Amino acid sequence: MTNILCIGAGYVGGSTIPIVASHCPQHKFVIVDINEARIAAWQSDNLPIYEPGLDEIVKKVRDVNLFFSTDVDKHIAEADIIFVSVNTPTKLFGQGAGKAADLQHWEKTARQILRNSTTSKIIVEKSTLPVRTAEAMETILNSNNKGLHFDVLSNPEFLAEGTAVRDMENPDRVLIGGRETGSGQNALNTLVELYATWVPRERIVTTNLWSSELSKLVANAFLAQRISSINAISALCEKTEADVSEVAHAIGLDNRIGKYFLRASVGFGGSCFEKDILNLVYLCEYYGLPEVARYWEQVVTMNRHQEHRFASNMVHAMFNTIAGKRVALFGAAFKANTNDTRESPALEVCRVLLDEHAAVVMTDPHALDNARYELGQLAERVSFELDPYTAAKDAHAIAILTEWALYKELDYEKIYASMAKPAFIFDGRNLLDHKKLYSIGFNVYPIGKPALTHLRAD
Ligand code: NAD
Ligand code: UGA
Repeated sequence: MTNILCIGAGYVGGSTIPIVASHCPQHKFVIVDINEARIAAWQSDNLPIYEPGLDEIVKKVRDVNLFFSTDVDKHIAEADIIFVSVNTPTKLFGQGAGKAADLQHWEKTARQILRNSTTSKIIVEKSTLPVRTAEAMETILNSNNKGLHFDVLSNPEFLAEGTAVRDMENPDRVLIGGRETGSGQNALNTLVELYATWVPRERIVTTNLWSSELSKLVANAFLAQRISSINAISALCEKTEADVSEVAHAIGLDNRIGKYFLRASVGFGGSCFEKDILNLVYLCEYYGLPEVARYWEQVVTMNRHQEHRFASNMVHAMFNTIAGKRVALFGAAFKANTNDTRESPALEVCRVLLDEHAAVVMTDPHALDNARYELGQLAERVSFELDPYTAAKDAHAIAILTEWALYKELDYEKIYASMAKPAFIFDGRNLLDHKKLYSIGFNVYPIGKPALTHLRAD
């Protein structure tokens, strides 16, 4: 039996380790966190994250070969392998503020591992980190006089929220980077064997440490770049009566381009895309590559533009004033099937509408608590309503901001009848049947497609 520890019981630690534990009943797994409320929630019937399929897996392995604890020191001492999945947010102070990754949680964890270790261990970077972080970690960990040796591996996580269980059960690839030394390669092989329990070997990719660390930032940058590219084109479509879905379909049929991640939207959100691209931008600046930095920075600039363009289109369409008008926001989560609202475009649109003094009501099936928390003081000016029909009642406009499937199934005739007229729908996800909504009487504003409006052209 191997003792495997994960430090950090957030989205990554909490949704990956239970799946590893379910495939490896011969090993003992512990997930620790300094956040007591979070650990208590993982031990309860009400898990702290909403992720389809996760509840059943956690219930199957919890207290069998997976344990949750706040006793970080004790479990470090007992562990043979330690996954570290603590948060690495954008640094908000000092050098690199606003771009670089804040590594304080990481470094604290490394020092805590060192303090509490009495045996040599394999340390696995699961968090997303700047390239060459492992070098600093190795230096800190191996600066001990206890005769201990630590091998640091990079094993970035590629799961997407909402499909975390599927992504982990059946990953496109597992990436593991290690040192090209005897001990480094032994550590790497140990991790390969763990994953090979359920992942086909040809999907387990091994590289040097720096390629692995960098690949994670690059994967997110490429994914986000595709969204910003199609969103840039959506703006042009709106000016030219081209239809962005048709353009995406036409270009996506080219195998070299591919069809995925070409859904134009109100913008990408989530805790990682913006943070990781800004981290990449910072690294390029740090290594004296300003042109490369500007190239990637534009992906973030375009995304912010798209969020604000969407909100301005709403104001413009509604006769250039929304002050005092009830506006129903359908969706708070940054994507469907998660309760995560971090960097959600829905919240950014909400902020702009509040600036315009709209009476905002927000609905979402799972994410209202997080939205309230994330909006801070602004939440006092927002009504939160679980039922979308109640949210839409007396509203001048609905904005679809998260692509929850349930929004497709609503009775829009009933909703139209309950709204102020003229009634508007701004579909920030191109989710709904626009022609049908238009025939009901709505003025419909999709992303990157001609508006369908009963109003006179201005
Ligand atoms: P999170 O904020 O949800 O969770 C991190 C957890 O680490 C928190 O619960 C925090 O209390 C805990 N923590 C911080 N310092 C600690 C310490 N010293 N000891 C014990 N616990 C500590 O973050 P997350 O979304 O799980 O992301 C973690 C990392 O994984 C980040 O680097 C992120 O970029 C990366 N990542 C996230 C996703 C995702 O979908 N969220 C996907 C891939 C990679
Ligand atoms: C993303 C990556 O997909 C994961 O591989 C990565 O592990 C993770 O970031 C991370 O590092 O945190 P995630 O943010 O959970 O996963 O979700 P995505 O499905 O990538 O969606 C991100 C945002 O882009 C969402 O707001 C989504 O609505 C938006 N999006 C996605 C679009 O607007 N259009 C698309 O075509 C695809």
